[in-house]
Amino acid sequence: MDYILAPSILSADFKVLGEQMKLTEDNGAKYLHFDVMDGMFVPSISFGMPVLKSIHNATDQVMDAHLMVQEPIRYVEAFKEAGADIVTIHLEACEDVNATIAKIRECGMKVGLSICPETPVSKVEDLLKDIDMLLIMSVHPGFGGQKFIPESLDKIREARKMITDQGLSVDIQVDGGIYQTNVKEVLDAGANIIVAGSAVFKGDPAENTKAMMEILKTYE
Ligand code: DX5
Ligand code: ZN
Repeated sequence: MDYILAPSILSADFKVLGEQMKLTEDNGAKYLHFDVMDGMFVPSISFGMPVLKSIHNATDQVMDAHLMVQEPIRYVEAFKEAGADIVTIHLEACEDVNATIAKIRECGMKVGLSICPETPVSKVEDLLKDIDMLLIMSVHPGFGGQKFIPESLDKIREARKMITDQGLSVDIQVDGGIYQTNVKEVLDAGANIIVAGSAVFKGDPAENTKAMMEILKTYE
């Protein structure tokens, strides 16, 4: 299994975004996590396709778009055109989750499926075979810098067991409140893709990425 760091640019300094992305890439972060918020599914509004289009060539990182958007099926093609490699949708935001997954596949991107803290893992049991990555939110989606919800660890363990029992190799990504101090617990529970916003971009992104990668490397 690959252990991957996905810095969330929500906490980056946007006036030097390209430079900061490059610092994370140069220090080992293979993904770049791009948080899209629509002001409907979540209260806040962040950024969308034009920003992704303008930045995706600043590094060779995998563009990991997390759509916190109501009915994301409407935007799948637009994110493909903007340069996304992975599109993650929320189970709670889709009227027809199967159609949304199919649309992401048709566009040739990897499929991520996310669940909020209050959504049980059992709700995605039958969908695991259709996706590449399960994103377990460890905060309520909408803002960076929140506190990790400890109950998420049981959900990660449960999901990893389900994936193994079904003979699948789905990645488990965890997003929200992850720092150098608690990342091991998240990895030990069975996650292999770590999203980190504040932990990477508050302070020196190069040093912070390096320190997170040192921990991830011990799992390979
Ligand atoms: C929250 C976003 C996260 C957020 C994580 O809605 O999905 O990706 O940026 O930020 P930290 O790591 O600061 O909790
Ligand atoms: Zn996110």
